[in-house]
Amino acid sequence: MMSRKLFSRYSLGGLSLPNRVVMAPMNRNRASDSQLAPSSMTATYYAQRASAGLIIAEGTPVSPQARGCARTPGIYSEDQITGWTNVTRAVHRQGGRIYLQLWHVGRVGHCSLRADASPPVGPSAHGLQSDRVPVLDGAGEPVLSACDPPRALRTDEVKAIVGDFVTAARNAQAAGFDGVEIHAANGYLFDQFRCPYLNDRVDEYGGATRKRWRFLLETVAAVADAVGRERVGVRISPLGAAHEMRPDPAPLFTYGYLACQLDQLGIAYLHVYDQSASWIHDPQSDLLQHLRACYSGPMILCGGFDDERAEAALRADLGDMVAFGKHFIANPDLVDRLRFAAPLAPWDSATIYKGGAKGYIDYPTLQEAALSER
Ligand SMILES: Cc1cc2nc3c(=O)[nH]c(=O)nc-3n(C[C@H](O)[C@H](O)[C@H](O)COP(=O)(O)O)c2cc1C
Repeated sequence: MMSRKLFSRYSLGGLSLPNRVVMAPMNRNRASDSQLAPSSMTATYYAQRASAGLIIAEGTPVSPQARGCARTPGIYSEDQITGWTNVTRAVHRQGGRIYLQLWHVGRVGHCSLRADASPPVGPSAHGLQSDRVPVLDGAGEPVLSACDPPRALRTDEVKAIVGDFVTAARNAQAAGFDGVEIHAANGYLFDQFRCPYLNDRVDEYGGATRKRWRFLLETVAAVADAVGRERVGVRISPLGAAHEMRPDPAPLFTYGYLACQLDQLGIAYLHVYDQSASWIHDPQSDLLQHLRACYSGPMILCGGFDDERAEAALRADLGDMVAFGKHFIANPDLVDRLRFAAPLAPWDSATIYKGGAKGYIDYPTLQEAALSER
């Protein structure tokens, strides 16, 4: 049998990955309420998944203002750095590699998520119509609530957020992460600035495509200066509709421009997520081919992959690594299961965000499942 590319080594920004299976960033909302720091359970969760070529740990708010969901651990306080240090140590002890995804939700938020009850912020005051975010009710239980109307950021505040990302990246480095991924996908802050329907600014961060990408590109450059460009990845979700986004009117130009700029910055990787799980699998996709032509560095593909689709995408040279999201929830040993074509366990939707150990750190490996059956 031909050796499979998915399980071949790959060199990424000085890291030697034993395979090209990436664990996609996934929020699991398990942080402590008081400190919003990752707990020892989170260290166990990621250590269980350390056989991934690379783990990209969940979207992590870079500041209190950046928060959009209850119980998401941040990376802006000492307690949070300590909590994440325990996570990276646990993963490294198991021989793994781990990046942290740095996140600002922009307008997708709620006043109750901040001690000062300040509203969400965005490129403009355009709010969401029906989107809801998890907040805590009076009894401290997570409930979904409509987003509060955002206010438009002043120009000096945009520049201050660049600084928040730099501080967060330094904190991540201090906590032992192998690198950071800037979250520019899924309708959050950088995606909102990219969007011509939401961004009606008249300062240097609005207007032409290059101005709408300026905020992201300034952030990537500043973070790369701070922690090293070989330790910075960027995630995008072209054509995505999550959080009430409308598809870009000129995706080839918009994302081609960004890919060329990121290529010049020489970062660790570009992570491309197709929310529709369609064009990312199509070797004829104009958008994918264009991104690959504009960006010469390592590319991660994500969205609806299984082992066959992943192998096909790598063989067709559509990308260099493949990220898996939901399958990692219930399959801590996903790499082995893919390698040996073993059955994949189904995830339990009810416990994804519920809190606690159930549905988080109690999914067995194949071996553990076999032993408990005896
Ligand atoms: C529970 C859950 C949480 C997620 N959290 C994040 C996140 O924090 N950041 C992000 O960029 N994407 C997030 N995603 C999207 C995943 O990274 C991934 O792109 C998506 O699940 C598609 O991959 P899949 O088809 O392999 O599951 C999340 C998805 C799930 C299911």
